[in-house]
Amino acid sequence: MAIKDLIRPFPGVRRLSLVRQHLRFAGSANFWDRRYTQGGTSGGGSYGSLGKSKAEFLNAFVREHNVRSVTEFGCGDGNQLSLADYPRYIGLDVSRAAIGLCKRRFADDKTKSFFLYDGACFVDRAGLFGADLAISLDVVYHLIEDSVFEAHMAHLFAAGNRYVAIYATNALIRDTAPHVRHRHFTSWVEKNYPQRRLVQVTAGPNSGSGRADFFIYGAACQHES
Ligand SMILES: C[S@@+](CC[C@H](N)C(=O)[O-])C[C@H]1O[C@@H](n2cnc3c(N)ncnc32)[C@H](O)[C@@H]1O
Repeated sequence: MAIKDLIRPFPGVRRLSLVRQHLRFAGSANFWDRRYTQGGTSGGGSYGSLGKSKAEFLNAFVREHNVRSVTEFGCGDGNQLSLADYPRYIGLDVSRAAIGLCKRRFADDKTKSFFLYDGACFVDRAGLFGADLAISLDVVYHLIEDSVFEAHMAHLFAAGNRYVAIYATNALIRDTAPHVRHRHFTSWVEKNYPQRRLVQVTAGPNSGSGRADFFIYGAACQHES
């Protein structure tokens, strides 16, 4: 985003603060690793009533569709995961600190594995990270760089053998903080993965224009309500 785009709609202090934040921003992976290293969390969407609603939706989906394995791209600090009820789980994240938190938090849980993820160095031709369900929760609108977004989507769709679940915004909302970039990702999927069908959209628990919803993709021939 150009600096002039920021300056136009914002008065005074907020405008200056946003400009400063944008100037300091050093990339999405760097942002998250710094945040966790400094004691920050995955954010409000992974805690309290929002975290609970996300977990209720996903746990019900896993149960109803007999999902045996889940791979998550962007597992975060593990708080959301602590509410999950998945038979078998792989969590990937760009932040070494986040993987460290999950490693400690789930040290005694043999159903969960964690790996540090670098989208530019991730080549899974044998489908080792493939699962019945691949998920991306509160991640898509944090992918600032186009190449990072495209790698995330490619790896997510390659890993989702039966389903892909994305919990994200799906609109172009501008003038956000530097670590937020809203996208109309469903049109990107339509263009780049025409064989994958959007089989379910369920409204998320939040309100307002920045609300994230649940988007479920199935295989090409699946039809569900
Ligand atoms: C808002 S948190 C959500 C964490 C978790 N999915 C949840 O719902 O609690 C976003 C997470 O995405 C991770 N992330 C950012 N860019 C990523 C990428 N390209 N691939 C995988 N994870 C990424 C961040 O490190 C952070 O842990």
